[in-house]
Amino acid sequence: MWRPPGDKSITHRAVILGLLAHGTTEIENFLEADDCLRTLRIAQQLGAGAERVGEQHWRITGRGDETLTEPTEVLDAGNSGTTTRLMAGVLSSHPIFSVLTGDASLRRRPMRRVVEPLQRMGARIDGRDAASRLPLAIRGGELRAIKHLSPVASAQVKSCILLAGLNAAGVTEVTEPTLSRDHTERMLQAFGADLETQICTTGAHRVRLRGGQRLEGQRLTVPGDFSSAAFWIAAALLLPGSDLVIEQVGVNPTRTGLLEALAQAGAHLEWHDVSEQAGEPTSTLRVYPQPLGAMSIRGALVPRLIDEVPILALLATQAHGISEIRDAAELRVKESDRIETIATELRKMGAQIEPLPDGLRVQGFTPLHGAEVQSHGDHRIAMTLAVAGLIAHGETVIHDVECVQTSFPEFEQLLKELVEYT
Ligand code: S3P
Repeated sequence: MWRPPGDKSITHRAVILGLLAHGTTEIENFLEADDCLRTLRIAQQLGAGAERVGEQHWRITGRGDETLTEPTEVLDAGNSGTTTRLMAGVLSSHPIFSVLTGDASLRRRPMRRVVEPLQRMGARIDGRDAASRLPLAIRGGELRAIKHLSPVASAQVKSCILLAGLNAAGVTEVTEPTLSRDHTERMLQAFGADLETQICTTGAHRVRLRGGQRLEGQRLTVPGDFSSAAFWIAAALLLPGSDLVIEQVGVNPTRTGLLEALAQAGAHLEWHDVSEQAGEPTSTLRVYPQPLGAMSIRGALVPRLIDEVPILALLATQAHGISEIRDAAELRVKESDRIETIATELRKMGAQIEPLPDGLRVQGFTPLHGAEVQSHGDHRIAMTLAVAGLIAHGETVIHDVECVQTSFPEFEQLLKELVEYT
């Protein structure tokens, strides 16, 4: 029995809504990993109270009707794209000046996708390359609601605009081509906000939110992170003799595309005890080794497994047949260019994997051998390579693994326990 660490996306949102809400927000099973601690630190710089009341248990005191405190220091999001893009929406919609930056990887990632709509709402934002990269200097103020048609299904873009819209005049509307993770929508409702969602005939997804709504602090328990569990799901599927039970893991359908990909491959996980935490479905999952067939991943499924593509690529190396992942060009602008980094590193271990402009083609049923590999500073690449190392013949050395701290600090300990046990 294993309970995964708290969900990263949900922890970020709990802190941010806690900052904006009236009263206190108690967050249990808080993911105390670098990305979420960055969001917490920034919330404190903006005037939130934050008290650690126990292991993975924080109490946030919100600003409510008080304006946010103007930060005297630069706000540092570290490696966290979610902190940056969601906070950009918050900072833009309050009458304060702030400078937002991050580490070298984050400073390379595209910000135009949030800056452009925020500028249209009335925020004054400046930065390099027409404000398309960090650092960004943001002068927030009174915003007006917009209708935004996002070219990509991105929860960070959607959430940024909704958070800005929360403090804008009028009704903000965001339409995305297919549904991305909907944690912001669910949590806004849990904090008392009213919003409308709609599926268009084209399959596009629309959210509408009226500005000026009051949020009330909540007490919530963050579900286990499905994306962290995914590495152990893969390990249990691939390692003979495994039988893994994962408790209280989040199974929000906008996150569990991996299970659909596995069903395509002919592998099924057992589900027990489906319940709800913080407006999010959770379940106990049981996994054991099963033969895998080829997978074809594309279209609306992609945003629902976007963070699982590296581990899915590894699973595909062990499946019978040729698997393809397409419509996933977004992978090129994650913590690393995940199309290139996963193909390059798994090839060093003997995988037959070809990068495509928008995805990967993987020849399955290929034995892997140990090698010296590189995470490229990307936590999900590092953890995928660790699981690859478990199934490979011989020794694998992974360089640059500190990045795992951004989402899954106990990963290394769990890996050691597993290796000792087997
Ligand atoms: C996240 C959204 C996704 C995902 C990231 C977390 C979020 O990014 O890849 O790890 O918490 O909103 P995009 O919105 O850029 O797709």
